[in-house]
Amino acid sequence: MTMLGSYLTVRRVRLISGIVLFSYLSTHLLNHALGLISLEAMEEGRHWFLALWRNPAGSSALYLSLVAHFTLALWAVYQRRRLFSMPRAEALQLVLGLSIVPLLAQHVIGTRTAHEWHGVHDSYTYVVLALYHFAPEKGLWQTAAVLVAWVHGCIGLHFWLRLRLWYPSWRPLLFAAALLIPVFGLLGFLDGGREASRLAADPDWLRATLATMNLPDRSGLAALQALERQIYWWFGSFLMLTLAAREVRALLERRRGLVHHISRGSRG
Ligand code: HEM
Repeated sequence: MTMLGSYLTVRRVRLISGIVLFSYLSTHLLNHALGLISLEAMEEGRHWFLALWRNPAGSSALYLSLVAHFTLALWAVYQRRRLFSMPRAEALQLVLGLSIVPLLAQHVIGTRTAHEWHGVHDSYTYVVLALYHFAPEKGLWQTAAVLVAWVHGCIGLHFWLRLRLWYPSWRPLLFAAALLIPVFGLLGFLDGGREASRLAADPDWLRATLATMNLPDRSGLAALQALERQIYWWFGSFLMLTLAAREVRALLERRRGLVHHISRGSRG
């Protein structure tokens, strides 16, 4: 494949995987927004949401896109000649993109992995009790994840669309949607959290509800925590390896330049 061919392939894979991830996040946030109606409405919306995403095709699209997008972020770090003098929006885009993995690892392990490994019923009641009622600091962490992932996606879409002729006239509408979707999503999360917290004040409700969730036992929990630690470790290792590969390339290039310089000097 020519240099141009591989450049275009990288761009295409980045764009397609980005669109899949953005669609996932938009529908996820719209589902959270139903919390403005009630916790029950969130759960009802979740059935539709899971029908769309938690099936072999939806899940493969989601997780393959995650892997592809992350790999291409590392590739971007490797490829850039200068990491500290890139345009500000691009730097922000890269830093936000790389932060999504550590911001999200616990959430995905606590929901999908817990569901697959231990049959946990990862409903909204389960998630908002965890993030709002039992550990609000994790709720703040998750709120940061919403903002980081959303801003990252919006910058990516803006760079993709900015040269289209129709973009300027659609921009106000898209801007309104970019603002309202996360705001409604987060307000829905807060309202759903408040409702669950109110219900949890009744110990009988709390006991009965926790009993329906099929929570993992001590060893199940330890296995999930071990996976989370592994993900942080792999993430750090891949990032370090990418930075090391840049250094090796720079060293080889300096050496090649030096050899070239010496051989020209000895000829002259
Ligand atoms: C306050 C914010 C959030 C809440 C309340 C929340 C809620 C949930 C819930 C209830 C689930 C269980 C499955 C489902 O019903 O969809 C879930 C799973 C998931 N969430 Fe979130 N979420 C939040 C933020 C985010 C963000 C910011 C992202 C991505 C950038 C994200 C990505 C995921 C993923 C990938 C899964 C696993 C989906 C699967 O494999 O089926 N979530 N979330």
